[in-house]
Amino acid sequence: MKGILLAGGTGSRLYPLTMVASKQLQPVYDKPMIYYPLTVLMASGISEICLISTPHDLPRFKRLLSDGSQWGIRINYREQKIPNGIAQAFIIAADFIGNSNVTLMLGDNLFFGGSAFPNAVANFQKGATIFAYHVRDPERYGVVEFDNAGRAISLEEKPASPHSNYAVPGVYLYDNNVVAMAAKLAPSARGELEITDINKIYLEQGLLNVHRLSRGVAWLDAGTSSSLHEASSFVHTIEKRQGMKLGCPEESALRRGFISMSAFTKLTESMPNCEYRDYLVGIAQEILRTEFDQ
Ligand code: TTP
Repeated sequence: MKGILLAGGTGSRLYPLTMVASKQLQPVYDKPMIYYPLTVLMASGISEICLISTPHDLPRFKRLLSDGSQWGIRINYREQKIPNGIAQAFIIAADFIGNSNVTLMLGDNLFFGGSAFPNAVANFQKGATIFAYHVRDPERYGVVEFDNAGRAISLEEKPASPHSNYAVPGVYLYDNNVVAMAAKLAPSARGELEITDINKIYLEQGLLNVHRLSRGVAWLDAGTSSSLHEASSFVHTIEKRQGMKLGCPEESALRRGFISMSAFTKLTESMPNCEYRDYLVGIAQEILRTEFDQ
């Protein structure tokens, strides 16, 4: 399974913050936003990733994330010149995807808790797997409706009168057919290649698996000033309580076995003296101690 991180768009709702840096590079408490979805992909075992962003912002992502080898993964970069829709990602990254299955993750979607994604990636075979999450304001999202047996029966993009409270979050798993589907897709009334239209094709083919995320999972999208603030508060609250950080690619790389303990130590030694480094050093000591205890 390969991964795409979609981190373009205009971020108009975050103006004037997005005059300084793109939405997905804004701080969510103590890290750039993109660290969180990147870490979700890594924690799901995905190590070949293509990041798509605007020509203007791509150099900043490259500076931050480099080629990924420091975390034992590979990060490729592609430009989306104009934000023509989420499904355009499969056209832009077609050569990167090759013959593989692919997980697409939006760069401004933050998930905490549960093991739904690693399980879905590990068990994925064919068709598409998307997720459903109960929200108060489904009209802001793609909405999925279920029948009495819990089967998905309809999908609508930002409906004025939603048929359910289940929104579709920004993480989607597809088989390789998605590349050809995206190439044939026509733009919607708002001029975008819609990810909901791709999902509808899989639904019509009987190949759409919709996994309902449990209420213990937190899904936040950080597209507005207040949701960005809420995301930061959420991360701060959890990190302060647990003494564990969310969204650290270094930690994910170590725990997932993408890098060795000595590579991890080299990474922390190259960091400036800061709370982030202190945390990672603590993690290494804890892992070494528990190994010793066993
Ligand atoms: P949106 O939040 O719908 O759009 P946006 O980021 O441009 O923000 P705004 O509405 O405030 O102008 O996009 C969701 C995610 O998908 C976000 O991470 C940006 C990304 N995206 C692209 O990279 N390319 C696109 O063509 C679109 C539509 C979205």
